[in-house]
Amino acid sequence: MSHTSTRLETPFTTAALGSDVSFWKSYIASRPTPSEDFFRLINKYHANHGDGRMEVAHDVGTGPGNIAARLAPYYDQVVGSDVNEQALDAAPKLISPDLLKRMTFIRSPAEGLVTAGLPTNLQQTDLLVVSECMPLLDAPRALEAFHALMRPGGTLAIYFYGRPIFQDPVCDAIYDRMATRICRFLLPFQGTPGEPFHRRGAEGLVSYLDNIALPASDWENVERHKWNCDYPLLFNSPEGFDFEFHPVDRRAEGEITHDIVDREFWAHDWDADDVKAYLDSVYPHYRSQAGEKYAEIEAMREELRAAMGGKQKVTFSVVLVLGTRK
Ligand SMILES: C[S@@+](CC[C@H](N)C(=O)[O-])C[C@H]1O[C@@H](n2cnc3c(N)ncnc32)[C@H](O)[C@@H]1O
Repeated sequence: MSHTSTRLETPFTTAALGSDVSFWKSYIASRPTPSEDFFRLINKYHANHGDGRMEVAHDVGTGPGNIAARLAPYYDQVVGSDVNEQALDAAPKLISPDLLKRMTFIRSPAEGLVTAGLPTNLQQTDLLVVSECMPLLDAPRALEAFHALMRPGGTLAIYFYGRPIFQDPVCDAIYDRMATRICRFLLPFQGTPGEPFHRRGAEGLVSYLDNIALPASDWENVERHKWNCDYPLLFNSPEGFDFEFHPVDRRAEGEITHDIVDREFWAHDWDADDVKAYLDSVYPHYRSQAGEKYAEIEAMREELRAAMGGKQKVTFSVVLVLGTRK
């Protein structure tokens, strides 16, 4: 029987629509928490390269505001924007009232932020962060909007983390099989309205975000930090997809790339249930697509449990792209 999906299913975004505060609470609990040093590195870059003003930070694709809340201790005002209204509704329920007083949430696609109706004082952005979201966006349009929203001398910080990296390669292999099986439950991508979004996401991750061009006419001091990118940033193997894709490199001359292997970076103690919870949040609602075959994922979780033997240190592949707005 031919199987053609007419609904727009895009990676992460549509699957998380309609999710209430409990989904976003588990989302936050299941995700790695960036270290404070990570935000200090971004602020140091801002102090060294930009004008150092710390009045307005904007977190694009903020979801439930988990990263926006991390910026609030450093900046006078923090804006969080997202397309997902339910995520924005969840934010005030998950963030301390103390921080919330200085936070504003608006519903807008990243690509449409310029006309989103932000008050003028909140448009003068000093730091614009895009956490775990850039591969979901139309990058050239989004970058134009970011440039328009930022003050000259402001800092753009785009970052994305990928799969957990284990101490034992056997665990890496089990994780990869699990994630790839889960991705295949979501097929077909090819021929569906969501295909361009899946292609964009896959290309971004297989390129370690090097496909995201920061045009030299708009941005300077571009630095790309890549931690543990001797491992894939892709959550699952290419075999999980039903189309081919290849790395694309749009880095401009003069950009600096730092390749860092640091197995302590964002280290977390995770067990097989934590890994499974991470996969559940990366591929929301795959379970209904899996039907009875969901048992295969449970069996792999038990295989991972035996291989991990309890809590084990995991780290992550992470890419951070920094630029100064000209
Ligand atoms: C994986 S979540 C990241 C949430 C949070 N920034 C974090 O780091 O945990 C991706 C978010 O991007 C949002 N998103 C997807 N496409 C978007 C777009 N075009 N404009 C703004 N936000 C978008 C989704 O609604 C979702 O909340």
